[in-house]
Amino acid sequence: MTSLNDIRSQFLGFFENNAHTVAPSSPLVPKDDPTLLFVNAGMVQFKDWFTGALTPDFPRAATSQKCVRAGGKHNDLDNVGYTARHHTFFEMLGNFSFGDYFKAEAIEHAWKLITEDFGLPKEKLLVTVYHTDDVAFDLWKKIAGLPDDRIIRIATSDNFWAMGDTGPCGPCSEIFFDHGPEIPGGPPGSPDEDGDRFIEIWNLVFMQYERRADGTQVDLPKPSIDTGMGLERIAAILQGQHDNYDIDLFKTLIGASVDLTGVKAEGEAKFSHRVIADHLRSCSFLMADGVSPSNEGRGYVLRRIMRRAMRHAHILGAKDPLMHRLVPTLVGEMGKAYGELGRAQANIESVFEQEEIRFRRTLGRGTALLEEATADLSKGDKLDGRTAFTLYDTYGFPLDLTQDALRAKGIEVDTDGFDVAMTEQREQSKADGGKFAGGAGEELFKALREEGGPTEFTGYDNLSSGQGVVALIQNDVAVGEATDGDVVFLTHETPFYAESGGQAGDKGVAIFENGARIEIADVQKRAGDLHAHIGTLSGIVKVGDEAHLAVDADNRERTKRNHSAAHLLHEALRRVLGEHVAQKGQMVDGERIRFDISHPSAITREELGRVEDEVNAVIQQNKPAETKLMEPQAAIEAGAVALFGEKYGDEVRVLSLGDPLDESDKPYSVELCGGTHVDRTGDIALFKVTNEGAVAAGIRRVEGVTGEAARQYLEGQAGITRQAADIFKTKPEDVPSRIEALMAERKQLEKDLSEAKKQLALGGGGAASGPEDINGISFLGRVLDGVSGKDLRSMLNEQMDQLGSGIVAFVARDGGKVAVAVAVSKDVQATHSASDLVNKGAAEVGGRGGGKPGMAQAGGSQPENADAALAAIKAAI
Ligand code: ALA
Repeated sequence: MTSLNDIRSQFLGFFENNAHTVAPSSPLVPKDDPTLLFVNAGMVQFKDWFTGALTPDFPRAATSQKCVRAGGKHNDLDNVGYTARHHTFFEMLGNFSFGDYFKAEAIEHAWKLITEDFGLPKEKLLVTVYHTDDVAFDLWKKIAGLPDDRIIRIATSDNFWAMGDTGPCGPCSEIFFDHGPEIPGGPPGSPDEDGDRFIEIWNLVFMQYERRADGTQVDLPKPSIDTGMGLERIAAILQGQHDNYDIDLFKTLIGASVDLTGVKAEGEAKFSHRVIADHLRSCSFLMADGVSPSNEGRGYVLRRIMRRAMRHAHILGAKDPLMHRLVPTLVGEMGKAYGELGRAQANIESVFEQEEIRFRRTLGRGTALLEEATADLSKGDKLDGRTAFTLYDTYGFPLDLTQDALRAKGIEVDTDGFDVAMTEQREQSKADGGKFAGGAGEELFKALREEGGPTEFTGYDNLSSGQGVVALIQNDVAVGEATDGDVVFLTHETPFYAESGGQAGDKGVAIFENGARIEIADVQKRAGDLHAHIGTLSGIVKVGDEAHLAVDADNRERTKRNHSAAHLLHEALRRVLGEHVAQKGQMVDGERIRFDISHPSAITREELGRVEDEVNAVIQQNKPAETKLMEPQAAIEAGAVALFGEKYGDEVRVLSLGDPLDESDKPYSVELCGGTHVDRTGDIALFKVTNEGAVAAGIRRVEGVTGEAARQYLEGQAGITRQAADIFKTKPEDVPSRIEALMAERKQLEKDLSEAKKQLALGGGGAASGPEDINGISFLGRVLDGVSGKDLRSMLNEQMDQLGSGIVAFVARDGGKVAVAVAVSKDVQATHSASDLVNKGAAEVGGRGGGKPGMAQAGGSQPENADAALAAIKAAI
């Protein structure tokens, strides 16, 4: 049997032999593309090459691309587990021509690969073409020798492929495999085409157009080819299976799920195991590409998929979190083809476990609520939107999870009602998208990039340079000349670092011969590698003018210290807290370090102390920092902690800092990093953590400072201690014990004060001084001032104890409030009830109360009537 891994290699090898460059899969999170949630096809990473926005690095490519279709235009989430061929995550095998070959060669390659190399029998294959595409029709006839009735013309969007609402698109031709008459389903275009008999295995898109945001469709510069073949589907065929979930990879994953739950993959449980295996892949790969579960955007899609899987683990009766225990099996199967999976393994496991622990707290109760709410519903009924919303809001059931749960019973959810409840409760979550202070659209920068080429960063060693202005942007459009106001400008080279890799853009100034000057407040990367200087111009500047660019050197020095210290911090956190620690975000600028990591709980004072000790120990080594240029893979092998999203063929900078603090032969910290750094660790001078806290579930933020800022921070702290010592007239080291003593003293004083207040209230004011006799019953009544309702009960008890037999009534005034309390001893309860008496009094002060025959209390709002209340009680005895 040919394994999934072998089939992938065979595909890539075939196209490599046919002059294609084999490129790695891009990460699942599209780079610089807010229009797309996740990469959903092989062509996404090449989008700008198709449209001509960027010039291709090579004319032909082949990839095996990680894809997630769980949201947006292409969404298969709801079908997963229930059909033989849908996945949230899958691998798309594709070959691409960027204006090189077109239809004929694409069809030739495809036909040769599947019929010769893969050996699929020709009589089991049929194809579709777009209804007007006679060229493709004739080519299939000529190249494949297919009869007319096996080349089906399709008029629908099924044969016109588009990436999304915008982007490259074109008519397509799909190759189908016939799994045989024993499986229900008809050929494409027939009424029962949705069955599982005829399965699409390969889509050849003849890319010809680009859809623009304004709705227009324009021709691509050159006709191109984009193809996509589902690896899992072709593997099923080549392994003699009809069902994707029966291929080697899924057998292993489902086997692990069966082993860990002890439930066979039969009957209803089969669906659950399939959903778990599928979602295990999408979630793990998303996490490996840097997505964390959260409540909005991509993170929420991830959380939704995770929770669906976790509900199925619950259905299978898993007593403990399950998903994280399946990760090693997945890494064993796919870690070789996708190294990022293994590198992120510890983090994936820890996030899975934390999420599942959390969700299990509400999953059981939510399931019970759902069952209760649907007990009287039957097939075709709808669950009301408010209950669905409560499930979402209180029990953490995403809407689609509730829908999935009700699917088997044929019950739908009133989604309009859900939306209404949602709108009432929640303001629109922030729209996805990148920040850019300059406003102008990405299209403009892509055009400028195409015209003028990339910006070369020359600022690792130099902080100033003379450069001609190559583009000026004011009010979001490119201009030839700009005057006073906000501007963005580009140069061919620049010493200004543009924000990236969690390091802020440089600040500084551009000075012109005519006296004009631009105060540069920020530098952002646009169109991939343009450094857009963003600033405020005073004077007049024209394109072509010579600018003297000068980076704010102090700010840069401080940023360097912070950036290098952040690397040391990262390593120290891993060493102190454990291997599961992964960087989840970073921002360093001239002021501070902000560093986010995955870690399930608060970092203790003691742990932070050890982290600081390690970082400062490496600083004190004062070893030179070393930067090397390497291929990404070599860098990872050298021990670099991986980053995400390096492009094919990129050379990366690898920074090594410090000597190891243990037996290791590798430097203390090795990381891929394009940022600016100190020359020697000693330049950092000093590192101090200033803050630690949570940013999201399972993510902690550590903030810190270096150099002079660290000294000032410590000086500030010492100043506070000195001030406290002065107030106490003691030495700083005695301050804590003085505070402790003071607090104990205060506690005692509060107790004494409360006691004194009670005594004072009982002793003075009020009515008579001792108990009086009313109709043979001892009665003690008082109006008490400055006694709160909460002290009343204990005072009542005390007085009753002293009295032994009879009735005690207090009306207590405190601020604008009044409370009435009555106690009646056992022997008197036959004739008098405390709750009746209390209501008599309460009626006078505008209140109502309640209690038992022996003790009752009420509140009121008219303290001025306290005496009347007491009198009313007395009168009732
Ligand atoms: N981009 C095409 C698809 O996803 C190949 O089907």
